[in-house]
Amino acid sequence: MKAAVILGTRPEIIKMSPVIRELERENMDFFILHTGQHYSYSMDRVFFEQLGLPEPKHNLEVGSGTHGEQTGRMLIGIEKVLMEEKPDVALVEGDTNTVLAGALASVKIGIPVGHVEAGLRSFDRSMPEEVNRVLTDHVSDYLFAPTEKARSNLLKEGISDEKIFVTGNTIVDAVRQNIKLAEEGSNVLETIGVDDGEYFLVTVHRQENVDNKQRFRNILEGLRLIHEHFNLPVVYPVHPRARKRMNEYGLSGDSLTMVEPLDYLSFLGLESRARLILTDSGGVQEEACILRVPCVTLRHNTERPETVDVGANIIAGTEPENILEKTRLMVEKRRDWENPFGDGRAAERIVSIISFLEGK
Ligand code: UD1
Ligand code: UDP
Repeated sequence: MKAAVILGTRPEIIKMSPVIRELERENMDFFILHTGQHYSYSMDRVFFEQLGLPEPKHNLEVGSGTHGEQTGRMLIGIEKVLMEEKPDVALVEGDTNTVLAGALASVKIGIPVGHVEAGLRSFDRSMPEEVNRVLTDHVSDYLFAPTEKARSNLLKEGISDEKIFVTGNTIVDAVRQNIKLAEEGSNVLETIGVDDGEYFLVTVHRQENVDNKQRFRNILEGLRLIHEHFNLPVVYPVHPRARKRMNEYGLSGDSLTMVEPLDYLSFLGLESRARLILTDSGGVQEEACILRVPCVTLRHNTERPETVDVGANIIAGTEPENILEKTRLMVEKRRDWENPFGDGRAAERIVSIISFLEGK
């Protein structure tokens, strides 16, 4: 059995890392196909180096572009590689353009697709990620749903129960595999100049937030209010999309402690010691929940409702006063919720399911 692991962005590298490690542990035949959607050192290579992942056998270097251009270039490149490599199964993770292109290219030439993190829904089709998730789920053969809720989303859309496997989310595996090193080995707090528990951590990068000048301005104003109210640093590792828009719109973020995107161990260490996390990232909402750090989501919906249900997260929208109010509320939360994303053995289940069903 030969597997293709198709990935291309920061969260896919992080969330696929436990699957890749498991494929290696089981001595399976596999190769990594990187689309090159992310390519800056701090969004790509740093994770391969730090997590000790094998080099991608193929890198399509598609880079940035409009949705159509980027996805189209990926489709052409992925198809070529798959026709040459002839894997028995292709694995994709999440909801990016890389995931859609990987799934579509594979299924069109008869290669079964395994979708890791299947069944998430924000029910907001204006998000590119929602379109990618829905389409990918509907062409996949193995749907690795992280939770029962994700499974029920799939069933409601008419996807056959036989294709769905509730495995937990591989982010739990990734956190468990790396948290000790992150907390003990990283001196990120000293480097940034903040004290344990005495700062807020923020990430904002989503297209619907940062590509909208007024909305991005509102979020930054909300963060300024938090800095003023609590008199604590607000640390923001700035995603390249957000950096580009800040420059273009002339937004400053003066009250924030802005840094470059961080490596995984540094970021994980910074998350686990934060007073509270504010984010529009999917992966960061999950990690905050797993690490028992309260989270305020800077969006109007979430495809991770489990985090809200257990009391770890709140949806704040993007209005400044509301961001401050929700932060004041969440900062008081007792950190005793249960992690809803599984036991950290998702990758083991995924690999054993594909090797059983596809034949080792
Ligand atoms: C993509 C995903 C998003 C995911 C995010 C993870 C889609 C539609 N979006 O968004 O779901 O949450 O990755 O971080 O797939 N850039 C760089 N260096 C890089 C990559 C990007 O400078 O390595 C800049 C470019 O200016 C580029 C912009 O960031 O135009 C956006 O990159 P893109 O890959 O299109 O989308 P993301 O916002 O990263
Ligand atoms: N992350 C990181 N460094 C940073 C910011 C985030 O390593 O400076 C990690 C974070 O721990 C999480 C993942 O990146 O595992 C989330 O990726 P991102 O927010 O880019 O994408 P999303 O999850 O929203 O698709």
